[in-house]
Amino acid sequence: MDEIRQIEELKTGALRELVAIGSTKGLEAWRVGYLGKKSQLTGVLRSLGRLPLATRKAVGARANEVKAELEAGFKQKEQALLGAQLETLSGEEAVDVTLPGRALPEGRLHPVTQVLHEISDIFASMGFKVVEGPEVEWDYYNFEALNIPKEHPARDTMATLWLDYETESGDRPMLLRTHTSPMQIRFMEKVKPPLRIVVPGKVFRYEATDATHIPMFHQIEGLAVDKGISMADLKGTLYEFARRFFGPDRQVRFRCDYFPFVEPGVEMAIECAVCKGAGCRLCGGSGWIEILGAGMVHPKVLERVEIDPGIYSGFAFGMGIERIPMLRYGVDDIRLFYTSDLRFLRQF
Ligand code: PHE
Repeated sequence: MDEIRQIEELKTGALRELVAIGSTKGLEAWRVGYLGKKSQLTGVLRSLGRLPLATRKAVGARANEVKAELEAGFKQKEQALLGAQLETLSGEEAVDVTLPGRALPEGRLHPVTQVLHEISDIFASMGFKVVEGPEVEWDYYNFEALNIPKEHPARDTMATLWLDYETESGDRPMLLRTHTSPMQIRFMEKVKPPLRIVVPGKVFRYEATDATHIPMFHQIEGLAVDKGISMADLKGTLYEFARRFFGPDRQVRFRCDYFPFVEPGVEMAIECAVCKGAGCRLCGGSGWIEILGAGMVHPKVLERVEIDPGIYSGFAFGMGIERIPMLRYGVDDIRLFYTSDLRFLRQF
């Protein structure tokens, strides 16, 4: 068979040439000539269809074998040339370009920070300004001005971490803020309505640590004050937030609740993601998960910052943050967020 002889000759010639090649450039020309799309070997393989069936099989098989041999020869030569190139370089210049690169560790935002940003962005797009406040606070802002005087039972619901600082009369007026609500007062002292803010940040409570409690967690506070603000504005704003953050299919529930600095006060819950309202372990069988407290700003709070409650009204809300990525990603222990385990954090 002429074709087979032709292939054998081609192979012998190609391998003889390959031995003599001394540069990567020459090697590339060889590859194009013998293995490229326009090479003789490719031509033989392409025209197989024109051969009678009996010869076609034998010629095809041999041509493929030779192709594989030439490819192997090429690889070997390529390695040899690169090796030789490295050897001619000395010391620090010797860069082995075939070595795989070193992976650089990639940083990312903490899952709680990501959620804080996401929530702040949603409210910012509704016209709320994002502001921050101090974590070390005065009793005045954290309690007193929020209509929680000394001896008020609401103080017992927020186990407070007090700073070791006493006045002459024996008062301890400084603490780690137990919620982000003190920024309501701080902001309204300086800025008069119309105003709309959200306040993301850390809060602290003196509590034993377990799967759902840690002494430091995050909240985001919201406050809107203007003429004619009503409960409908509060609900509309929080519905829109829930729609954007949790998606349009999740139900939202409002119920009465009590906070001294709002009247009336409500709590908002979201339909449980796991059981869709049927009741499961995550939601304690109720089908709902409470995510925030809210209400209409109490007239006494407005008076305190010299805003006339006869003219202005407002709504406020305060949302716990850690619970949200826990619900979203099915994290069953809040402590995981703060033990700096990269295997956990890298998943977000
Ligand atoms: N500060 C309240 C808390 O931490 C939440 C809240 C904020 C309630 C604003 C009403 C209005 O529980």
